[in-house]
Amino acid sequence: MKRNPLLPGLLLAAGSWGLALVGMVLVGTVWAAPLLADSAPVSLATDVAPIMTQRCVMCHIAGAAQGGLDLYTNLWGAIVNVKSTQSSLNLVEPGDLDKSYLYLKLTGAQLSAGGSGAQMPFQAGQLDAGQLELIRSWIAQGAPNN
Ligand code: HEC
Repeated sequence: MKRNPLLPGLLLAAGSWGLALVGMVLVGTVWAAPLLADSAPVSLATDVAPIMTQRCVMCHIAGAAQGGLDLYTNLWGAIVNVKSTQSSLNLVEPGDLDKSYLYLKLTGAQLSAGGSGAQMPFQAGQLDAGQLELIRSWIAQGAPNN
């Protein structure tokens, strides 16, 4: 019987599709990882507040609150569902990072969101990736007062 000359090509094509599929599943797993991280509860008091104390409070404290923002006395009350003075957005909009002006100030996206001023911390180097991720997760989890 004569072999179908197309067969090797077809088998090769099927093999590549298989590989592509495995690749997509692997990439999917890696992409899903940060989303899964959202399920590990982040605490305002023990995770987020210490970052503010270390990197923000020297400029954002009652009596010397740059931008009118005190990030020490009552952190949750000062930022959650509170309007920014620089844009029409709230500083923290629970569950919505794109509408949380404080988060946009940390990633340097404040101007494209209609805000103003510099990326925070002001002229002091960005937060590191782990700190940013904690703040991101806390807002994504609904910014609880925990
Ligand atoms: C060295 C001083 C300094 C540090 C440190 C600093 N800020 Fe600021 N911040 C300012 C100044 C000055 C302004 C107003 C001018 C501007 O926005 O560029 C401001 C404004 C802001 C605003 C805008 C307030 C509003 O109502 O729209 C936010 C939000 C903010 N800072 C958050 C932070 C956070 C969060 C940190 C720490 C990660 C931080 N800042 C660290 C000086 C600082």
